[in-house]
This record gives sequence, structure tokens and C-alpha cells, in this order.
Amino acid sequence: MTQKIRVGTFSPSVLLSVAAESGALAAAELEVEEVAATSSPAHFRELVAGTIDVSLTSPDNLLAYRYVDANPLGGTFDVRILAAVDGGLGLSLFAGPGHEDVDDLMGLPLGVDVSVSGFAFVAYELLAGQGLHAGMDCPVVPLGATPRRAEALLAGRCAATVLNAGSDLRAEGQGARRLARASSLGPYLGTVLAAHGPVVDADTGRLWRFTQVLVATAARLAAGQLREEATRSAISRLGLDDLAARRYVETIVDPVEGLVPDGKVARESIDTIVGLRNRYSRSDSSLTTEKALAGGLVDDRFLGPGLAFRVNGDPVVSPAPGATALIHVLRNDLGLVGTRFGCGSGLCGACLVLVDGQPTPACDTPLWSVREKDVVTVEGLAPHPVQQALVDEQAAQCGYCMSGIVVNAAALLAAEPAPSEGAIRRHLDRNLCRCGAQNRVVRAVRRAVEMT
Ligand code: FES
Ligand code: FES
Repeated sequence: MTQKIRVGTFSPSVLLSVAAESGALAAAELEVEEVAATSSPAHFRELVAGTIDVSLTSPDNLLAYRYVDANPLGGTFDVRILAAVDGGLGLSLFAGPGHEDVDDLMGLPLGVDVSVSGFAFVAYELLAGQGLHAGMDCPVVPLGATPRRAEALLAGRCAATVLNAGSDLRAEGQGARRLARASSLGPYLGTVLAAHGPVVDADTGRLWRFTQVLVATAARLAAGQLREEATRSAISRLGLDDLAARRYVETIVDPVEGLVPDGKVARESIDTIVGLRNRYSRSDSSLTTEKALAGGLVDDRFLGPGLAFRVNGDPVVSPAPGATALIHVLRNDLGLVGTRFGCGSGLCGACLVLVDGQPTPACDTPLWSVREKDVVTVEGLAPHPVQQALVDEQAAQCGYCMSGIVVNAAALLAAEPAPSEGAIRRHLDRNLCRCGAQNRVVRAVRRAVEMT
């Protein structure tokens, strides 16, 4: 069953479009609704409130809303990085059209998202590298997310700002001048995939699948695949002409400024971002990379090895904690809802699956115990002679017990192709049927024996 995921973005995401167009999102049974951010505070308010599920945002926002009480929302929250996404996508300081020289900027406004934000700190540092000081030489004006700042720069409402993700190329095409790149400041991380802890913990499987899709799509793009899809998306979503769209694609595959193909958060990039925050934000100079990482900034489960096993022949890697019941992963994370939840105590047989061929109640089997094993659910058995025989005997009434019966009977016939009626009755004794269809079930299994 396809699940929806609401993704907050500060600029239209070509990566998301390519993930959709390539079929990767559909294959993971996900459908994305992209929600455009107007500013960092509004965006994080939505993330914490659950209006959006995940965010493609600056890692500095995670530092601010996780560790700094004096942030615009007035409190800290369990917001986490699930994966690194890009190295800034061309993030650079720009002078607006008509400003030929850096000296022209003296006394003119510098546009930022809000005055205390990761991109604002980059703007201050790059401006300082040009010999001008934000605030003293150039008044700082809050103008919101990147596309809004690009519009303001081109309309002359600010003389300089930082732009990226296609807004930089569009502005360049209309006469803005690129003064300095964020990548000159050291290893840098422009965008991460982030989520609010309670959502992560309640819906790990859906967010894990989404993270895998994004990282795999980034890896394919970095490897030179899906370029036409990316170019088309850059034209339609970012409003670039063909030439600029092709330059944009070169940016997203750039090893420094482009997509992060393995999704891993490089410690050195956090050093750069923490350093900028400590230099320009006055309120939190005690923050260090060590503290940030030790405090749970990155949720390692999303890029860690996870727990590997096979389900119906397909390899699966689950980030769920080892104590999670197998049935939870099968039904909620993998969408295999044929396995029924009955008693939840290993007594009724409704949830039976095969683990390395043995009928096993998935409700009280912890995930850690199936590491590297083969799990087969009722979906993986189909079509099985027992299923047809149950239909032929019209054995099911409500049908709730039938998945477990099919799995258990299939295990019996695999071990003993011609069991006696007594052996069938003894073997199926653990499958409760509250509708009282037991005799018809036994007849069906005998019929299946005759059919095979
Ligand atoms: S739900 Fe697993 S045995 Fe009853
Ligand atoms: S058919 Fe209803 S519980 Fe078995």
C-alpha cells in the first residue's frame, strides 16, 4: 500500500523529482508531497508539529533547534539528521546586477533568510572574506528562503545575498555576480534530510525507506545516471533554460558541492558549520562538534548496516531495534499484511511465518533472531495447493486464521508429503479457529495432499 510522505523544502528539489520519475519512490511504495518553506522558523514549527514528516534543510538549523534554547521557536526539540544530502549545490555570495565592484556594496543591504541561520552565517563569512562586515558595512535584512532572496536580489531589494540550488544560476543569467563560494570555507554540508524524533520512532520503516530512496537516487546521479531526468526537472521546476539546467546537473554531480552519494555526514563538515555558528551567533559559543554528535544529532540507524535478513527471497535491511517483533516489520514496514495479528502471545497461530522453513509466530519473534535467515510469509507461498484446497472446501468463514493455517500446513507438507489425518490434526493443533472451521480445514489439507 502506497504511503504518503510530506517533505518540506527550501528550494524545489530536483533530487525528489528524479526519485519520482525514475520509479524509485513508487517501488518503495511512497508518494511525496513537497511543501515549500517560507522561512526556517516557520518550517521547523511545521516539522515539530508534524505538519511535514521530513525536511530537506541546512544542518545549522538542526544545531539551532536541537541545542540552542534562544532559537526563534524558544525551545529545543529532538530533531535529527537522517542523511547528508548535498555539499551546498553551488551556495555562493552574490552581488546584484549593476554592482560591478565589492566596494559598491558598502552601505547596501545584505539579504538573509533570518539573521541567525546557517546560510546567514555563510553570507557573513563570505562577505568578511571580501573585506566587508555584515551589520557594520552592510545592513542585514531578513528576506526568507532562497527563491525569495533571489527575487529580491534581482529586483534590487538587497544588494547581496547567498544563493544556491539553481537560484544561483538563474540570478547569474540575469546579471548577478558570484563573489565567493561556500566551499571555500572548508568541508561544507548544505542540505541534510531531517525529521522530528517522535515521528522517527513511531514510523521508522517509512522514513527508512524514504532515506534509502533518496540516497540511492543521489548515488545514481553521482555515478552519471539519470542526467536527462535531472535536466528536465531543472528546467521545469527551477525555471532554468537548457544551458543553465545542464550546468545545474554538473553542480549536483560535483564531488565537493554536489549530492552526497553515500548519505554519510562527514564530521569535518559539521566542524565548519559549528565554527560558523560559534563565530556569528553569540548565544551558543560552547557548542562543539563532539557535543553535537554525542548528543544524537545524527540518527545512525538510517545509514548504518541495519539488520539483514531475507523475506520471500528478497534481501531486506531493517533499521528497527532488534527487540521489534518481526510481525511489526513485516506488516508495517514491508507492507506484507497477509500475516495476521491475533493473540500477540505466540498462542493462536494467526501470525505464523516460516523462518528457515520452521513455522514461527511472528508476533513474539524479535527481529534480532532472524538475522541472516530466510523468512517466508503467506505471500511468498502463493500459489500453494493448500490455498486452493481451502477454497475448494470452502473452509474459511471469517478467514482471519487462514494465513497461519496455510503457512503451517505448507510446512507440514514440505516435511511430510503424505501425512495421516491424525498427523494433520496434531500439526494444526496450534492454529486456533474461532469460527469452528477445523474439520473443513483438515479435509482441505487432505485434499491438498491428494492434489500434489
Ligand atoms: S498473534 Fe502470534 S500466535 Fe497469535
Ligand atoms: S475462519 Fe474465522 S477464525 Fe478461522
